[in-house]
Amino acid sequence: MKSNAGSTVNIMNKLLELKGITLDFYSRKRLFRSQALRAVDDVSLELGVGETLGIVGQSGCGKTTLGRVSLRLLKPSAGAILFNGEDISQTPEAGLKTLRRRMQGIFQDPFASIDPFMNVYEILEEPLIIHGLGSNSQRREMIDKVLEEVKLRPTGEFLPKYTHMLSGGQRQRLAIARALILEPQYILADEPVSMIDASNRAEILYLFKELQKRRRMGYLYITHDIATARYFCHRIAVMYLGKIVELGPTLNLLRNPRHPYTRALINAVPSPDPANRFHQRQVIPGEPPSPIGAPAGCRFHPRCPDIVLGKCDIQPPPTLAVEKGHITACHLYS
Ligand SMILES: Nc1ncnc2c1ncn2[C@@H]1O[C@H](COP(=O)(O)OP(=O)(O)OP(=O)(O)O)[C@@H](O)[C@H]1O
Ligand SMILES: [Mg+2]
Repeated sequence: MKSNAGSTVNIMNKLLELKGITLDFYSRKRLFRSQALRAVDDVSLELGVGETLGIVGQSGCGKTTLGRVSLRLLKPSAGAILFNGEDISQTPEAGLKTLRRRMQGIFQDPFASIDPFMNVYEILEEPLIIHGLGSNSQRREMIDKVLEEVKLRPTGEFLPKYTHMLSGGQRQRLAIARALILEPQYILADEPVSMIDASNRAEILYLFKELQKRRRMGYLYITHDIATARYFCHRIAVMYLGKIVELGPTLNLLRNPRHPYTRALINAVPSPDPANRFHQRQVIPGEPPSPIGAPAGCRFHPRCPDIVLGKCDIQPPPTLAVEKGHITACHLYS
């Protein structure tokens, strides 16, 4: 199956829209004052039906927090989440149950929170029971069908197994099956292949793509890894310290990155060509600052090689379109 880079999806068919999402974490009160950590700051994006949007950025930039807000596992401090056009940002917990069927998350270690004494059959039956779906025999059929779909077969052999008896790749297939069985329209995939050995990663991403084609699901794919994002995503958003600094179609963004941070991220990836491997790799100077007391102006300015003096350290950059569908927040373009 070919890479999604270079192909586009009509995002007029919006599945998910995040509008001005901000999320503050509060530390425990110290001296009667609680300190806020702004993990996500005024983020807006759209995900189309059948589209994969990548969120890339270094550790701590707010990717997982944004993903959890998109599923309403966290309630945003500000902003709106529109799912199929309906604002779910303030929906009370009780009203979220039906919605949760349509929105599923797949995480790095999917079974961290699952009872190790549950077998594959029980793991797949549990969401059906929670949502009151099917009779016993119908559930058995649904479970067989979904195991086939993720290629854990012969299915009968997998049903009695416990998760510790499965390989990393098989566990992730099971996690995908558990999400799929509820027939979601949207899947948040947060580093879904980072704990799987490199040789099995491509297969799992291939499976995700195949399922998307068949079921027209939208994916938000969170990763550190630009190489998998290039293969898997129709569009990519780059985050730095809680903000999206650039967003565009995968090939445009990777071939012609505009934001100095995106350029630095791409340059930090070792080249697949061994002749270039040791020449091109560059490391972004400095440490990513903390979201507590983030720098004024553009947050990247203390590390930026292209700083426009007198501006970047004072004014936050506006988000501007540099091409159709390709935006960046950088004073170089304002
Ligand atoms: N429950 C929490 N309480 C307080 N602060 C948190 C909490 N979860 C995350 N943070 C902070 O919010 C910021 C964003 O964290 P987040 O986990 O979203 O980053 P990330 O981009 O997913 O990082 P990684 O790539 O390491 O998974 C970090 O500064 C983190 O320390
Ligand atoms: Mg994370």
